[in-house]
Amino acid sequence: MSPKATTLFACQSCGASSQKWLGRCPECGEWNSYVEEVPAPAAPASVRPGEACARSLPEIETRADDRVATGLPGLDRVLGGGLVPGSIVLVGGEPGIGKSTLLLQAARGIAAGSREVLYAAGEESASQVRLRADRLGITGERLLVIAETDVERIVAEATGRAPAAVVVDSIQAVRHAALSSAAGTVSQVRESAAGFVRYAKERGVPVLLVGHVTKDGSLAGPKLLEHLVDAVIAIDGERGSSRRILRATKNRFGAVDEVALYEMGSRGLEEVANASAALLSERRVGVPGSAVTAAREGTRSLLLEVQALVGAAIPGSPRRVAIGVDAGRLALLLAVLERAGVSLASREVFVSCAGGLEVTEPAADLAVVAALLSSARGKPLPGSSVFFGEIGLLGEVRRVSAAPARIREAAALKFENVYLPSRNAREAASAASVALRPVERVTDLVTELALSGPHGSARTSSRSGAGPIESEG
Ligand code: TYD
Ligand code: MG
Repeated sequence: MSPKATTLFACQSCGASSQKWLGRCPECGEWNSYVEEVPAPAAPASVRPGEACARSLPEIETRADDRVATGLPGLDRVLGGGLVPGSIVLVGGEPGIGKSTLLLQAARGIAAGSREVLYAAGEESASQVRLRADRLGITGERLLVIAETDVERIVAEATGRAPAAVVVDSIQAVRHAALSSAAGTVSQVRESAAGFVRYAKERGVPVLLVGHVTKDGSLAGPKLLEHLVDAVIAIDGERGSSRRILRATKNRFGAVDEVALYEMGSRGLEEVANASAALLSERRVGVPGSAVTAAREGTRSLLLEVQALVGAAIPGSPRRVAIGVDAGRLALLLAVLERAGVSLASREVFVSCAGGLEVTEPAADLAVVAALLSSARGKPLPGSSVFFGEIGLLGEVRRVSAAPARIREAAALKFENVYLPSRNAREAASAASVALRPVERVTDLVTELALSGPHGSARTSSRSGAGPIESEG
């Protein structure tokens, strides 16, 4: 046997390690993140050449087709169509956001088939899980709860029961007995996750891991967890709001731009049926600085409000703040506007995407510019209008993907005007039931939205147009 394992100090934030304790991690810059850990003894190399058995592609059986539905259509969509057998999914979010609630509801959905689901509660007692289940109206006989923090015991129970899925709540609460370090440390999280990955792959059972996320949005402790799993689903929500947004930030089996909107209520999480209407419900019509864009989130179109506030001119370098909007693109758009004769160089500029969502695709450029123009001039945009189009460095408005779907979403919510790239307008012209207003260049938009003068009919329609939008199913 090797001599007594030497201790190592590992950064709890990024996983970097060092022989001695460090006050600040040289890799990620985190303070006081080094914790002493005893590394796992290295397994002796026991595999002889040829033993690992490589197989040709057709020889390998796949199970990706028989995905396991969770009974929550939004979650299934974000997962890329349900859980892939043998996959390992990390569900991350701040404490109290609703991770346990979501997974208990998913467990009910999975157990609604004829199979069992094993729910390993590491943070709560079995009776606490039962209480939550009662609250949610879940009375599953096929929902097996085990209050256990030992990884090997959980895996052994799962191996004996052969459930349709395993939920581990949470990965930071469980530990592997082979390691002496505390639960939640880098080496424990890595070793525990590896244990569940091994189980999932060997048995072909999907495993859902709960992971706590720190205030700054990183997964508490180790980034390395994200590399070990097949998919990372994030639950977000604004403080004090009951709305929850589900999105995949990594997915080996699906797209990562899919989102689902949920509302936390007295009976758990309920998916918001008409997401666009909900997102626009708090919008105030006829106020300067507000523009609506039609964004693509995965396979769906969503109408989102982009807000801009152009402040007073201040000496020095004025602030540029972008929330839910890419800061680099905002800088680019301000430069393009400058070229188009609208100088905001000395003014403070704030831009945000309302409702806690993000518009990172360039197709939102036209809405950002429209909101900026509207705020700078103190005039509301023509009412009942949706803006989308990518803006190039030379001020040209470029074609975007899925224009017909975006237009349909605008029409479905009774918007009357869609400002869009000319090329998209030509392609979509015949189908649309809304007035398409093609924009060739940013300067055209600046002129078109003079926001006073003759096109000021816009101002009257801004009052007639949509109030808080009602869904019409
Ligand atoms: P929980 O799922 O325990 O959060 P997490 O596992 O992410 O820490 O949910 C926490 C909050 O959700 C808690 O403040 C209570 C609230 N909640 C509801 O509003 N309705 C419900 O039906 C349930 C079960 C919880
Ligand atoms: Mg919990």
